[in-house]
Amino acid sequence: MIIALDGPAAAGKGTLAKRLAAALDLAHLDSGLLYRATAAVALERTVAPGDAEFIDASGSLQPGDSARNGLHSNAVATAASKAAALPEVRAALLAFQQNFARTPPGGKAGAVLDGRDIGTVVCPDAAVKIFVTASAEVRAKRRCLELQERGEDAIYQRVLQHVRERDRSDETRPVAPLKPASDAVLLDTSALTPDEVFEKAMAIVRSRSAG
Ligand code: DC
Repeated sequence: MIIALDGPAAAGKGTLAKRLAAALDLAHLDSGLLYRATAAVALERTVAPGDAEFIDASGSLQPGDSARNGLHSNAVATAASKAAALPEVRAALLAFQQNFARTPPGGKAGAVLDGRDIGTVVCPDAAVKIFVTASAEVRAKRRCLELQERGEDAIYQRVLQHVRERDRSDETRPVAPLKPASDAVLLDTSALTPDEVFEKAMAIVRSRSAG
């Protein structure tokens, strides 16, 4: 079984993906980490990477790269958003994601993949597609809390601005823009606790797998 979770930054996809994978004994791939790793590798090679450096980095990713430190910094997030707009980078990362879905590691019977284009491009035949979203304000608040828990400075207005800029860049890029698949179920988490989000997602999974 393939579960595709898509949606904007900090909508709660990551937490939900981990919980679904654990509850259903499926493998989990956070595809955003592949774009972040591409950005981090390119940034390590040069301070202001351009298209060529991002493309080169995406083609030479090593298995350990998506477990690097510092992948959640603002600098990496901004560079990842630029890298994600390049068709060559997306093509280089597509095969890895589709392979993961087709042959999940650990002999699992399926996988949960979370990202921006899983239901539309990576796994258009996924049995379950959920588009997880929340207002920009709620997502910025959650992101601030996350940063503070990690001991980093977080100024709400700045984080909100950053969230909106990334949304714009992810939604308006010509290749694989962030949008719900036509057969995705929308799940707005703005007013929900993580437990409520999980319960609603499980109900969607049950109804989709029954049908
Ligand atoms: O989900 P995230 O914040 O870790 O994603 C980092 C960047 O990668 C973000 O700008 C969106 C992009 N991305 C993408 O274009 N397609 C995906 N499947 C996953 C992430």
